[in-house]
Amino acid sequence: MALLRSKFSMLWILVVTAHMTAALFKPKLIEYDEACESQDNTVSLRSSKASTAPGPEPGDLAAAFTVRTLDGEFSYQPGAMRGPVIIHAFTNKSGFMECMWSSESSLTSLVQDLPNSTQVLFLSLDDSAVSDALWMREQVQRVAMRSNKEVLSRLHFSPVPVFALGNWIPSVFYYWGGTPRLTQAVFTSEGWNMPVVIKRLDARYDWLMTRWGQRSYELIDAGDGCDPAPSVAGAVAWVSEVNCSFFTKVQTMAKSNASGVLVYALPGNPIQDMNCVGDECNSTLSIPAAMVHQEVSVAQALQFGQPVYVTFQSTPSPNFIFGIDQQGALAEMGGFLYPSFSFINWQAQWFDFYADLQTRLQSPAKVVSVFDKVQMQGEKGAVATVNLPSGLLDFDMLELDASLSCPGKRDSSCAHWDHTVQLFICCDPLGPYCNTELGRWITAFRRGIGHWLTDVSPLLPLLDSNKCTLTMKTVPWAMLWIVSLNLRFSVSNQTGNGEEKLHPFRVMSLYSGGTFDKNYNKRFQPIKFPVPASTKKVELYAVITAHGSDENSCGEFCVTSHHFLFNAVFNNTLIFDSAGSPLGCTLRVKEGAVPNEHGTWLYGRGGWCDGLQVNPWRIDITKQLNMSVLASNTVFYFGLFDGQDPNPSEQPGYIIMSSFLVFYK
Ligand SMILES: *[C@@H]1O[C@H](CO)[C@@H](O)[C@H](O)[C@H]1NC(C)=O
Ligand SMILES: *[C@@H]1O[C@H](CO)[C@@H](O)[C@H](O)[C@H]1NC(C)=O
Ligand SMILES: *[C@@H]1O[C@H](CO)[C@@H](O)[C@H](O)[C@H]1NC(C)=O
Ligand SMILES: *[C@@H]1O[C@H](CO)[C@@H](O)[C@H](O)[C@H]1NC(C)=O
Ligand SMILES: *[C@@H]1O[C@H](CO)[C@@H](O)[C@H](O)[C@H]1NC(C)=O
Ligand SMILES: *[C@@H]1O[C@H](CO)[C@@H](O)[C@H](O)[C@H]1NC(C)=O
Ligand SMILES: *[C@@H]1O[C@H](CO)[C@@H](O)[C@H](O)[C@H]1NC(C)=O
Ligand SMILES: *[C@@H]1O[C@H](CO)[C@@H](O)[C@H](O)[C@H]1NC(C)=O
Repeated sequence: MALLRSKFSMLWILVVTAHMTAALFKPKLIEYDEACESQDNTVSLRSSKASTAPGPEPGDLAAAFTVRTLDGEFSYQPGAMRGPVIIHAFTNKSGFMECMWSSESSLTSLVQDLPNSTQVLFLSLDDSAVSDALWMREQVQRVAMRSNKEVLSRLHFSPVPVFALGNWIPSVFYYWGGTPRLTQAVFTSEGWNMPVVIKRLDARYDWLMTRWGQRSYELIDAGDGCDPAPSVAGAVAWVSEVNCSFFTKVQTMAKSNASGVLVYALPGNPIQDMNCVGDECNSTLSIPAAMVHQEVSVAQALQFGQPVYVTFQSTPSPNFIFGIDQQGALAEMGGFLYPSFSFINWQAQWFDFYADLQTRLQSPAKVVSVFDKVQMQGEKGAVATVNLPSGLLDFDMLELDASLSCPGKRDSSCAHWDHTVQLFICCDPLGPYCNTELGRWITAFRRGIGHWLTDVSPLLPLLDSNKCTLTMKTVPWAMLWIVSLNLRFSVSNQTGNGEEKLHPFRVMSLYSGGTFDKNYNKRFQPIKFPVPASTKKVELYAVITAHGSDENSCGEFCVTSHHFLFNAVFNNTLIFDSAGSPLGCTLRVKEGAVPNEHGTWLYGRGGWCDGLQVNPWRIDITKQLNMSVLASNTVFYFGLFDGQDPNPSEQPGYIIMSSFLVFYK
């Protein structure tokens, strides 16, 4: 026993030394803080300065800079770059970052899917910048050699630590909000002079995280955690990474009544992203878990029967990534929900989308400004009355140029939840179209970059007076959004197969949705309609979204289908087949879905994505109709779940639908 003790105290000295180095810096920091807080004048001076911002903010133009790299230098000149630039600062103090840079799937996504337009500059926040840069380059090279060497010419690695750059870049890293924070596990044991603080990466069980409590837990060694261990009841189980899946370990320890699980990597192995695989993901787990490195002092104390306790903390850190878009503006990159470079790719795809959108907005059009950065909130929403251009009949295109931003420049000032936004138009208050829905969008979770161009040309007949009132609103309890909206009238570009141009001249409203329960389809009756004289073309136009969550996750996350049956024969079907798929909405970033939102934006949904316009569904049904003015045609709508009438036993979901027939001549 004596021998064991002496081994133990040697270890203890090592730990203390490491912490003493850190302690040397501490008194200075304290003096600085006290000096600032002891005089009221100083404090107000500081805060008024802070409001004018200590450095550039999102949306500001990036100034020129040059940074040394392993291969020479990386130089940014405003206007000289064709694509976006992303600047990322690594720190090995973060388990999240270590995992992002070690995981094969993360590295593979960077080398395979980084958009061709994009350059990335990699930096380190730490003293170890030279070895960090060499290591990062080696990690990427290893994977790129196998699949895509070309990408290497667009990745730049700097051996100069961020704090030594001497330009504006450090102020962006240090002053823009830092997510994720440094998550840590803190171990104490009797006889240790200092706690041992190490980085951790929490498990995510497909994003359903359970949080660690504030209290101190006893730590109990449970081997590989693959078999029940009654001794862990009420404690945190300390288990090695081998022999069974992460999910099995956590589930087994949960069944043994553990309060949590710490899985340690074997020496030399990186921290991994603990997640479920396949069918494992059908079960949710009720205890928190995290991965850490094996800490020798902890392992030895446990081995020698010394009680060890663990608490969990998180420490703010500098921001680790930002972008410069094609227009040269600084941009936040949003939230990384798990450690993967895919989030860089998605933001870069959005930069490409946004640059393309700017080009499309340059094309000639008669623009009517409806809202210019006005507040949308409450029952009223945003309301404006506008005059339409004269000669409206000359135009056959109407596009909605809409954007949603936030009260401040940072995403942190944005509304937190996703809500449906609808735009209603009323031109002739006595006409048939007053207060018809003209456009629909879904807000992003806490990101203020959404900007979309939606073609609503078939609805031109709704503009039946030269003055129109437009109302844009969401649920009254939603936090404030700042909206901008332009109506863009233009002449369509018909690639000319000699056909004459057709204009929509009449719109006929069909069905709206409702509660998606067993009576959903009983509400709808067949509608008989004649085709007006001189009609050349008839189009079905519908905007459909599914919401809510019954026991089948309907309608947001279940596959519903929507059918418009013409003349009892022609079955026009819209199926929301990506609803509920894990990455369904990431596939729509290229169309303008806001990426990297602070919420579960990745899942496919019933006809919509967070941070995206709802695209109208349009089908030419001319051939399905009897176009004779004397004939009577019929249309009938029904909506199904899994090919059948919905029949939920829990709180049913609902369908929001506007649907029309559009007649062209
Ligand atoms: C990061 O830290 C872990 C443990 O703290 C270590 O094993 C690993 O070698 C470090 N990686 C780099 C690139 O420094
Ligand atoms: C990049 O370009 C190559 C060919 O030049 C193409 O094969 C690849 O699909 C492109 N990748 C992306 C992400 O656009
Ligand atoms: C892993 O399983 C093997 C074989 O059952 C066992 O010998 C070993 O001790 C296990 N590892 C740990 C860390 O429990
Ligand atoms: C876990 O706790 C439950 C409820 O207190 C108890 O019935 C069960 O026997 C415990 N299981 C183990 C493995 O300790
Ligand atoms: C898990 O869920 C998937 C998708 O819902 C299903 O296909 C699979 O059969 C389920 N597996 C188990 C073991 O229940
Ligand atoms: C018309 O559209 C085609 C294809 O979409 C495009 O290539 C062409 O440049 C457009 N012409 C004009 C004048 O916008
Ligand atoms: C269309 O309707 C007219 C009037 O009812 C009828 O005479 C004609 O046969 C119909 N045409 C077709 C192709 O069914
Ligand atoms: C229409 O098609 C869907 C599948 O595409 C089918 O489930 C439905 O029964 C069809 N309805 C009719 C009346 O043909």
